[in-house]
Amino acid sequence: MDERKGFGSHFGFLMAAVGSAVGLGNIWGFPNKMGANGGFLFLIIYLILAALCGYIIMVGELALGRKTGRGAVDTYRSLTKRFKWLGWLAILSPFLILGFYCTLGGYCLKYMVLNVGNLFSASFGNNGLASAEVFGNMLSNQGESVAYGLIFVLITLLIVAGGVSGGIEKFCSVGMPCLFFMLLIVIIRSCTLPGAVDGLKYMFVPGWAVANGVIEKAPNFLEVLSSAGGQMFFSLSLGMGIMITYGSYLDKKENIEKNALIILVCDTLIALMAGLAVMPARFALDPTGDIGGPKLLFITMQNVFNTMGVVGYIFGIIFYLLVILAAVSSSISLLEVVVAHFVDKATENGKGDKRKVYSIIAGIACGLLCLLVCLDGLGGNGIAPYQLLHLPMANWNDNWLDFLDMLSEGLMMPLGALFMSICIGWELGVQVVDDECSLCGVRFKSRKFFNVCIKYITPILMVLILYGQIHAFFL
Ligand code: PHE
Repeated sequence: MDERKGFGSHFGFLMAAVGSAVGLGNIWGFPNKMGANGGFLFLIIYLILAALCGYIIMVGELALGRKTGRGAVDTYRSLTKRFKWLGWLAILSPFLILGFYCTLGGYCLKYMVLNVGNLFSASFGNNGLASAEVFGNMLSNQGESVAYGLIFVLITLLIVAGGVSGGIEKFCSVGMPCLFFMLLIVIIRSCTLPGAVDGLKYMFVPGWAVANGVIEKAPNFLEVLSSAGGQMFFSLSLGMGIMITYGSYLDKKENIEKNALIILVCDTLIALMAGLAVMPARFALDPTGDIGGPKLLFITMQNVFNTMGVVGYIFGIIFYLLVILAAVSSSISLLEVVVAHFVDKATENGKGDKRKVYSIIAGIACGLLCLLVCLDGLGGNGIAPYQLLHLPMANWNDNWLDFLDMLSEGLMMPLGALFMSICIGWELGVQVVDDECSLCGVRFKSRKFFNVCIKYITPILMVLILYGQIHAFFL
């Protein structure tokens, strides 16, 4: 691929793409959103959306990226007239996501260290406090949160500065398979706790949650749809050009359809596994605590580890390490999509690739946003958006993390995906993707399914998801 440096091997590409998809969205987001949205209903809708929208958008993005061999901005600029601007979403969304993503990554770092402290009965361990208190203390200790958040930004920056094959590929090829096995261990522990079976029922038995008073009434369908939709885009890294950028590194001989399916299946599997690790533990150890929400990964899981004594702390170190691995492999893709654009530009203008310079600049910009989210401590430290902007408090503005999440996952990603499906289905024509997916004698088996979905089903679902999001946040 000319002078543009791509992945060293196909396995490397896959691991990097799976690495981008699998992250905090699966391990932190999926269980907490499934918990907050009634368990079973969310799960089913999520799976349907993954097939009807996730797979379709994934194929579309990989195909467009490989066709042009460029990052998201240039891809849209060179292919379409009406949607030229769409690529810029691919610069803005990752930036907003990185702000809160790195904060959460920092929390995971803190929790790994916490378990090291527990193991050696050091002062930076639990120190005899309950999990909820430990978490609360971390949020209000702004200096500590900032330090961990910025360390996470720095790790991301260093790997991206190392380049696609040197940094991202090497990192993911080892990290991703490890992650799978580490997660298995935690599931076994969680599902063998007494009372864990209720968590399984919450996830898999329709109507169980309402019948047993776990939640008062069945969740509103539209709300579940939009929250599952946002979660799906976020988890699969779609609707913002990441897969366009990664697709641009994909070899022409590769089967796009098969790659998309592998990424989708791995991502969904890891999300389900995270659900199986977290939900049963919540029912076994903290039956009256929050059933969803951002605290689940920290409070509920730490409760699991606390019940197991010394072994638990070792489990805790392994668990948070695996979450960090998954988070880093996603955050590098977020930063890469921003950096790749400027690197392409610089190369084009004959200035060399300047990857290091751009990585540093983009890293610093994200670091500043991360600083704000860390200082906010999930809204507890007096600088939440509604306080800074002097607005009445609502659930979208009571902390910076949710606010940035709402903007990116709630609005920009479904919008990006909606416009992309309209662009492919109605402006460029499905033939563009059909052709790209059938190069070098590859047969595009889901051609008909793809064509119908991208023109009609995906955009309609997307509009519903957006309507649900806007309704939930503003009406
Ligand atoms: N998919 C990642 C996750 O689940 C997050 C992400 C979103 C990464 C968007 C890239 C783009 O954690």
